Amino acid sequence: MGEHIQKEQGLPKYPQSLWRATTELPTFPRLKKNIKTDVAVVGAGITGITTAYLLAKAGKQVVLLDAGRIMNGTTGFTTAKVTAQHGMIYDELINHFGEEKARFYYEVNHKAMNFIGNQIKEWNVDCDWKQEDAYIYTQDESNTLSQLKNEYKAYEKLGIPGEWLESVPLPMSVHGAIKMPGQHRFHPLAYLKRMVEEFLKMGGEIYENTTIGEEVETKGPLTIKAERGNHSITCQYAVSASHFPFCDGKGLYFTRLHVERSYALAVKPETAYPGGMYLSVDKPSRSLRSVTYNGEELVIAGGENHPTGKSESTHTHYENLEKFAGELLGARHIPYRWSTQDLITLDNLPYIGPITSNQDRILVATGYRKWGMTNSTAAAHVMTDYILGKDNRYSELYTPSRFKADPALKTFIVQNAGVAKEFISGKTEMTYHKIEHLQAGEGAVVRHNGQRAGAYKDEEGNLYLLDTTCTHLGCETQWNEGERSWDCPCHGSRYSYKGEVLEGPAIDPLKKLDPHE
Ligand code: FES
Repeated sequence: MGEHIQKEQGLPKYPQSLWRATTELPTFPRLKKNIKTDVAVVGAGITGITTAYLLAKAGKQVVLLDAGRIMNGTTGFTTAKVTAQHGMIYDELINHFGEEKARFYYEVNHKAMNFIGNQIKEWNVDCDWKQEDAYIYTQDESNTLSQLKNEYKAYEKLGIPGEWLESVPLPMSVHGAIKMPGQHRFHPLAYLKRMVEEFLKMGGEIYENTTIGEEVETKGPLTIKAERGNHSITCQYAVSASHFPFCDGKGLYFTRLHVERSYALAVKPETAYPGGMYLSVDKPSRSLRSVTYNGEELVIAGGENHPTGKSESTHTHYENLEKFAGELLGARHIPYRWSTQDLITLDNLPYIGPITSNQDRILVATGYRKWGMTNSTAAAHVMTDYILGKDNRYSELYTPSRFKADPALKTFIVQNAGVAKEFISGKTEMTYHKIEHLQAGEGAVVRHNGQRAGAYKDEEGNLYLLDTTCTHLGCETQWNEGERSWDCPCHGSRYSYKGEVLEGPAIDPLKKLDPHE
């Protein structure tokens, strides 16, 4: 079946997210002046938009800023499952944080799902909001099955509604599965577009294509530098709602988070989809859910996670998903393919709250471990309450200055060793392509004037030559042929083949090189 599809239809030539492709979003100006506000929210994805909306609703003056376009980070490229079933997490949370915190995690994510549902109802938003049962399953008889059984015991301990199953509605055999009933899926951008409208109605301001510098003046009111210091934003509170915090505040976030890419396809299946949202807890992971598109039902097949910048062939990940979806449901047509990247913390719980215990006017929300729809909404509530001076029973759960760190310490060391290794190995690798051998549409690491360089030849034969050194902290970027981008393995910055920043933490583009020099 998979081979048949490849010949007849194949994958779309270029990646494009179904959500982005089906939503017309308003545009906003670049910041061109100094401004004053109560709260500056940096990053206009689901976290930033929801936080800005809640604060504006509470009467605060709020400015929302993004280094690119709104909703063009992870939020525009999610699989948009709105659920408190986040893979196998509850057993781990009980072991590392105790039952109360594990129960809080379920509660806060369940409430976030209900908040989204209530907003959709109140605003009457047409965003494909649909109740679905969520399933995690394993096809592995050994280790993973016993872990899944422990996960189910955790559901029982915490009183999480769930059911143990030995089969799922999909046409596949499994060794075990847990169903969490009554979860949801939606079109995230249709929902957020409406939230943006509500935010603007309350006097909120949005600036796009506005880069924020790392330095923040913290004596007196906060002063954030924008557009390479040309403009400033003076505010009482700042919220970092981007992947890596725009300012680290000595919180060492670059050492406490790692970045993973994952992939998704929207597939028109040949056989009817039985309903439900699925996640395999085996390796490689697999995720499925349906979506209504032009009145038809498509299936979003996702998975194939790997650390950013560390995949031999990114296109292979799409092909693997195509094969999986084709064999399972048949794939008549694949209109969209896209990929995203997620940040993961040392202990798998997001960091939400003051950036450090000494700097409580800069708040951060990051590290959702792929579960951004509900964790972001929870983050928006926690941060809004913090700014309004209200108690929030979940703030301690997420506080970034926690250091329980039993699983963390090991990961901490491995991650930093990983970054150091990337830093060095990227600079010393021996394999280079020759520029003259590049085909149209091909990119590769090449040698130029004795130095490592990145080259891409477009369909018209134009050559783009770049210094591959990441402008963030100097690791070497790697070519990602699936997205035609240069990806940094250290903290996940991504650049187009022309060198423009696609995703931070980098702010500056890759240096262009002259092929004739
Ligand atoms: Fe940090 Fe590249 S060195 S993202």
